[in-house]
Amino acid sequence: MSSNPATYTPTRSALRLLHASLAILRASAVQGLAVVPWGIVVRLQDACDDNTVPPGTSTSTIARPLLGSVPYGGPGIYDCTVPGTIAITYDDGPYIYTDHVLDVLKSYNAKATFFITGNNNGKGEIDNTANPWATTIKRAYADGHQIASHTWTHPFLSSLTSAQRKQQMYSNEMALRNILGFFPTYMRPPYSDCTPASGCEADMKALGYHITYFDVDTVDYNNDSPTLIQNAKNNFAKGIAAGSSSTADYLVIGHDIHYQTVYNLTAYMLDTLLAKGYKPVTVGECLGDPQANWYRSAPVDLQPATAAQAAKPGSAHAHNLCLDGQSNPCSIFLASLYVQDDEPSSNDIYELGEAVDNHC
Ligand SMILES: *[C@@H]1O[C@H](CO)[C@@H](O)[C@H](O)[C@H]1NC(C)=O
Ligand SMILES: [Zn+2]
Repeated sequence: MSSNPATYTPTRSALRLLHASLAILRASAVQGLAVVPWGIVVRLQDACDDNTVPPGTSTSTIARPLLGSVPYGGPGIYDCTVPGTIAITYDDGPYIYTDHVLDVLKSYNAKATFFITGNNNGKGEIDNTANPWATTIKRAYADGHQIASHTWTHPFLSSLTSAQRKQQMYSNEMALRNILGFFPTYMRPPYSDCTPASGCEADMKALGYHITYFDVDTVDYNNDSPTLIQNAKNNFAKGIAAGSSSTADYLVIGHDIHYQTVYNLTAYMLDTLLAKGYKPVTVGECLGDPQANWYRSAPVDLQPATAAQAAKPGSAHAHNLCLDGQSNPCSIFLASLYVQDDEPSSNDIYELGEAVDNHC
């Protein structure tokens, strides 16, 4: 069979049948992972994200000392600690709006944190020079923003094996290494999913990551229209209403993959927090963590990836299955499929994900 996963033939009815069988599995006692027999031919949408490992040496052997006083792994961080600071964070980018949010932040002399996903929403690998994302990431860093990790392909981390979970982090590290020459020590789990029972919290500690959640949720992903974005503004305003800038601090989540977040909500948040006397800073700064602790340097040992970046034979790849035909990004997420050798088989593993936040 062809090694190109995008060549399997789809039919809508086959996808519906697969969806139905996944729904049955989801309704059964199976939590998160299920091994299902391969009986249906599915097109693996090339508009979605494959799990090709970025080029260059794996970062897995790089030493990961746990520097500073901010906790690593464990239940994670919800709160800033430096009074008067507000850390606005953006997940899931870079995307087509990210350059504009950098313009807005610059116009306010504000700093923020970008939890970067390496290969989501069908945007292609961040370190692939055929894509614009590396330039955006370099600019965000040069502008003084913090670069953090939001995994390689945005899976439910608790649903993966420990090896798959670590590879999600290594792959994003390798891509960021190829772009910047270093990788982050701060991460945010997609869907805030990193349970102790799954081993995720311990894995993140072993990899030297601060698990970074938030205490103000704008819910911008559900309000991405001119009429709805006021809800996200209200969520922000309510979220910071109780405190005063002499004693309080906040850690705010938004998503730079949404137009209204970038073109409307961001300026509102900055106007509001500045009027209350807060300073818009990075996550590291709001935690009082010196910048030297935010990253681990990693030698760039290969040229950045190109369009020729190819799946390595014999490796495992994850593909998101989409029900929306050719659209990009995928709006009807079905599942993530792990494929050994790109050969569909009875050992293929589906991650039973839900379509959340318009993530692929
Ligand atoms: C920005 O949000 C407000 C609601 O808060 C809305 O009335 C306005 O149309 C939005 N602007 C744009 C450019 O979408
Ligand atoms: Zn996300």
